[in-house]
Amino acid sequence: MAAATRTERLAIRSSEDVVKVRQQTRIFAVAAGLSLVDQTKIITAASELARNTLDYGGGGEVCIEVTEYGGRRGVRLAFEDRGPGIPDVKAALKDGFTTGSGLGLGLGGARRLANEFSIESKVGVGTKVTITRWKS
Ligand SMILES: Nc1ncnc2c1ncn2[C@@H]1O[C@H](COP(=O)(O)OP(=O)(O)OP(=O)(O)O)[C@@H](O)[C@H]1O
Ligand SMILES: [Mg+2]
Repeated sequence: MAAATRTERLAIRSSEDVVKVRQQTRIFAVAAGLSLVDQTKIITAASELARNTLDYGGGGEVCIEVTEYGGRRGVRLAFEDRGPGIPDVKAALKDGFTTGSGLGLGLGGARRLANEFSIESKVGVGTKVTITRWKS
């Protein structure tokens, strides 16, 4: 079983909150012992997902934790909103797909930057995206 050794919950309601998510992700990545390169990867992914939570999910929250599995440490982030949901998750993950004014690179980019990526979304209910980056 993976064990959370440290957890923080942050609301995502404004651009300032997105900055706070980046800052906290860095603190947790350092605590998990991630290299500078891996810190940057998880911070970039967190930033994209926090933006989506704000722009498309109408705001929400993130749970950030240092996790441990088989003696290995990592950072896990779970973004959750009660927005409109994503009708076609497979399409949304494709590079270039956007319903807004972005480049459509956020979700796919976040998936590539993380070691683990999962998304659950239900139209009319909301979206939850979870990513983990392990210490290499
Ligand atoms: N939390 C969410 N709730 C509802 N729809 C979402 C959510 N996150 C993403 N989406 C949908 O998935 C699409 C793709 O997201 P993605 O982050 O890849 O691109 P983008 O945000 O449109 O552009 P970019 O991230 O490159 O600025 C979005 O345009 C939106 O339609
Ligand atoms: Mg995006």
